[in-house]
Amino acid sequence: MKGPQFTVEFPMPDGRRLRNRSDGLVSVLPVVQFDADGLTTTHNADFLDDPAFQKAYQAGVNTGHRIMDPAKLHIEWRVYVCCWAATHAAHLPGDFVECGVSTGIVSRAVVDYVDFNSLDKVFYLFDTYEGIPESQMSETERPLALSKNERHYFDCLSLVEQTFSAYPGVQPIKGVVPESLESVDIARVAYLHIDMNIAAPEIAAVSHFWDRMVTGGVIVFDDYASLAHTSQKIALDALAAKFGARILSMPTGQGLLLKF
Ligand SMILES: C[S@@+](CC[C@H](N)C(=O)[O-])C[C@H]1O[C@@H](n2cnc3c(N)ncnc32)[C@H](O)[C@@H]1O
Repeated sequence: MKGPQFTVEFPMPDGRRLRNRSDGLVSVLPVVQFDADGLTTTHNADFLDDPAFQKAYQAGVNTGHRIMDPAKLHIEWRVYVCCWAATHAAHLPGDFVECGVSTGIVSRAVVDYVDFNSLDKVFYLFDTYEGIPESQMSETERPLALSKNERHYFDCLSLVEQTFSAYPGVQPIKGVVPESLESVDIARVAYLHIDMNIAAPEIAAVSHFWDRMVTGGVIVFDDYASLAHTSQKIALDALAAKFGARILSMPTGQGLLLKF
């Protein structure tokens, strides 16, 4: 099949581009609004211009992580999803929980965005605060998990305590999930963020918290649709099926599940 011999594009005053093909086809190309973190879209991203979101995002992304230069990270859409989820959960009974905290990028943004000090809630932050336990890695997961331990994770509990020092309701809990989950009695959960990079502790954490999630409570899985973390998706889908639930796969690479 023969295509057009040539295509020319003209910038339009509003940022869109007018494309003319030599076969006469004319189209208008919309403006890309977000192009980072595996997501390119021409859809509305006006949260990026919201000062409240930007303030929260900057607080989160500048928590001292070792991933890369914070100005180049651009995980805004993922953080925005969690800020939205936390805003929803703020109206429900129950506490907030994150399993997999590291320096607390997402949780630091969340406490700022929802003004956590104004809520009558506790935010439990579970992590080893020294990387992914080798004993929990499957053979498939091991190379990436070891590499992340090497490049990203370090002894960061004191840094996290300092990061959240203005938020008395935030409780970092050091230890290996799932054992560490037994060290506190959390009766009801409204917001659960799961981000441990490997399947075994994520499955254990969701199994632990599912019955404790309040109706309408929200679970966000950070790695769910990431192609580098397919083992987590397979395991989480099987677990959700046992609950009669399905996880929403999102273009950010996250998964979303609402408790019913
Ligand atoms: C991707 S990082 C979390 C990033 C974090 N959500 C943020 O917003 O910055 C993954 C974290 O999971 C933790 N982790 C992995 N497996 C764990 C386990 N079984 N128990 C506790 N922490 C674990 C690691 O120590 C690491 O800090």
